[in-house]
Amino acid sequence: MTATFAPPDPAAQYLVRAAVTAPSPCNTQPWRFVSRDGELQLHADPIRRLPAADPDGREMLIGCGAALFNVRLAMRHLGFLPRLRLLPDPGLPWLLATVRWGPYARPTADEEAMFAALPRRHTHRGPFQPDPLPPHLIEQLRGHARHEGAELCTTLTRAEDLRRLAGLIRTAESVQRTHPLFTTELANWAPPRGSRRRDGIPAGAYPRSPDTTAFAGRDYAGHARMGYEQERARHIAHPALGLVVLLTTRHDLRDDWLRTGQSLQRVLLYATVHRVAAAVHTQPLELPELREQVRRMVIGRQHPQMILRLGYDNKTHATLATSRRPVPDVMGQHEKHRVPPRSRRREQAAGR
Ligand SMILES: Cc1cc2nc3c(=O)[nH]c(=O)nc-3n(C[C@H](O)[C@H](O)[C@H](O)COP(=O)(O)O)c2cc1C
Repeated sequence: MTATFAPPDPAAQYLVRAAVTAPSPCNTQPWRFVSRDGELQLHADPIRRLPAADPDGREMLIGCGAALFNVRLAMRHLGFLPRLRLLPDPGLPWLLATVRWGPYARPTADEEAMFAALPRRHTHRGPFQPDPLPPHLIEQLRGHARHEGAELCTTLTRAEDLRRLAGLIRTAESVQRTHPLFTTELANWAPPRGSRRRDGIPAGAYPRSPDTTAFAGRDYAGHARMGYEQERARHIAHPALGLVVLLTTRHDLRDDWLRTGQSLQRVLLYATVHRVAAAVHTQPLELPELREQVRRMVIGRQHPQMILRLGYDNKTHATLATSRRPVPDVMGQHEKHRVPPRSRRREQAAGR
């Protein structure tokens, strides 16, 4: 089958400009968009997957799910109801979703506020102010997550649970700070100061020491490996962790990962509207045994997809925003990822 590709239209470009502000693991931006026949297709870009940290592409799909939420939100901002299909073609495993323009419906105040928050949302790395989140806001965040198909687990508040989770994060970090596959991978996505790259996490987007709270941070610059960690960790006086929450799903399949991504972005944007920032600690979810241990801490043994800390920024660790690749770089065709249907594969194997 040969397909013809029209140049991207301005409306599709508008949606994609919103989409790419989404969070993604190590700012890999593992997505590609195709505008065709009045629909916008979201494809994963598997070349941008993290093979060591994310062999199954779970985190890649969470990032893509977050971008998908932004596409839907931008459509709502323009006044249209999105018509969404997740994983519409089993023969195209990297085609994650299609979005079509539905009928007109005025956007809600929440949708408008979340859309306006897109450029203000950034990953926080460091301590929070000690002020707790108001209970009604926590309830609203749970509702937003559930609306997109994931649960926001807010029950890990006891000191012993937090200590246990901190221990699992620390264990994962110790593995990832010493294993060459992980250290090389992280170094590839942590461009040095002054780099003109539009992806990865620039120096300046994270604090000098990764260990600014009881939850170990990811060591993007390899400072801990160079011996700074112990030196600095001694001076840290238990800064506020914020509210520790997990995004969880009942199953652990590709559509669950896409739903998690949409839930994640909806929670993050609603939090941003209310001046609440989020830090991310997914390290133990990248190692199967540790992920299983985190799972045992979750009520109902739901599958943990994201570990977050939510709180009010104390501005002591001002961090740079991360860059994004320009819209034309993420729009284009994706036929090369097509997996032939089974019957065609048999024909190919038989040399026909
Ligand atoms: C699936 C996933 C996992 C992530 N894991 C971490 C993490 O372990 N530590 C961290 O500091 N940030 C983590 N992040 C945040 C990304 O690094 C961040 O989204 C990316 O650098 C873009 O920056 P921004 O969120 O400020 O726009 C994660 C994001 C996603 C979507």
